[in-house]
Amino acid sequence: MSLFSQAAAAVPTQLPFDTWLQAELDTVESALSAWVPEAAPAGLGIAMRYGVLDGGKRLRPMLVLAAAQAVQGHREAALRAACAVELIHAYSLVHDDMPCMDNDILRRGKPTVHVKYGEAQAMLAGDAMQALAFEVLTPDEGVPPALQAKLCSLLARSAGHAGMAGGQAIDLASVGMPLDERALRDMHHRKTGALLQASVLMGAACGNVDAVAWQALSDYGDAVGLAFQVVDDILDVTQASETLGKTAGKDMNNNKPTYVSILGLPAARVHAEELRQKAHEALARSGLAHVDRLKVLADKVVERDS
Ligand code: IPE
Ligand code: IPE
Ligand code: MG
Ligand code: MG
Ligand code: MG
Repeated sequence: MSLFSQAAAAVPTQLPFDTWLQAELDTVESALSAWVPEAAPAGLGIAMRYGVLDGGKRLRPMLVLAAAQAVQGHREAALRAACAVELIHAYSLVHDDMPCMDNDILRRGKPTVHVKYGEAQAMLAGDAMQALAFEVLTPDEGVPPALQAKLCSLLARSAGHAGMAGGQAIDLASVGMPLDERALRDMHHRKTGALLQASVLMGAACGNVDAVAWQALSDYGDAVGLAFQVVDDILDVTQASETLGKTAGKDMNNNKPTYVSILGLPAARVHAEELRQKAHEALARSGLAHVDRLKVLADKVVERDS
């Protein structure tokens, strides 16, 4: 039996949230470990595994799996999508930390990939993680081709020029600039929100959803995605590096426009709360029965301290 068919048997819907979460985290960790090849040439696999495994909250995979469960979606497809989106996210972090971008030395409580393995290897590890994400989404069998294509399309659009990479370009071009709230929202939506929204929609695509549920899940993903980066901006100024596992205070040091620098801390907190309400309202109008896990994940995004 393959890794994915073993995992497919697990995690019944009625488990309490924390039990479900731990089971899914374990499943995703095992699947990622099986997928990211230690034997890739010239130490590349070691650098990839360092950047992907043993760290991170795995929020994006959990959004995929919770959404897939809400629509009783194809389990193997959902697990592949969960791993693929985490690979894209991990690659974005490896590149985000490089000296040419945010120049960070700490990530997930460890030295960043370029600090450990050098800049060229970090760049290649990110490149290879991105390609691996799409390899994971396109098995020879086990997932219907039309679903594979849909998942690839959702992920590519959210990761590319119109999504994460485009948002990162705006981020770098906005250093020291007094963006207005609309421009800031657009940047955050692209650089962070798009991949989180795509996580929800990839999960949804694994099942049969009507247009109303699809739009509601899209709105939920939009709100959670933006809330996530608003809270990231807040934590950058309110938490210590040891808690975050990455260097605190970097946004101000790098002169980045953030929700805190533009709106101030109290208003940023209020905004995160408004986005949580929006996410809850979207779930309520989805018409789907099993949205509790998505609801708790939205709460965790806003209430988290790391
Ligand atoms: C950090 O994302 C980068 C942003 C998009 C804000 P996470 O806070 O999800 O990072 P990990 O995966 O838990 O390390
Ligand atoms: C990162 O935003 C967004 C990505 C696409 C990686 P940040 O630069 O704020 O993320 P952190 O704070 O370094 O995790
Ligand atoms: Mg950055
Ligand atoms: Mg950064
Ligand atoms: Mg940040």
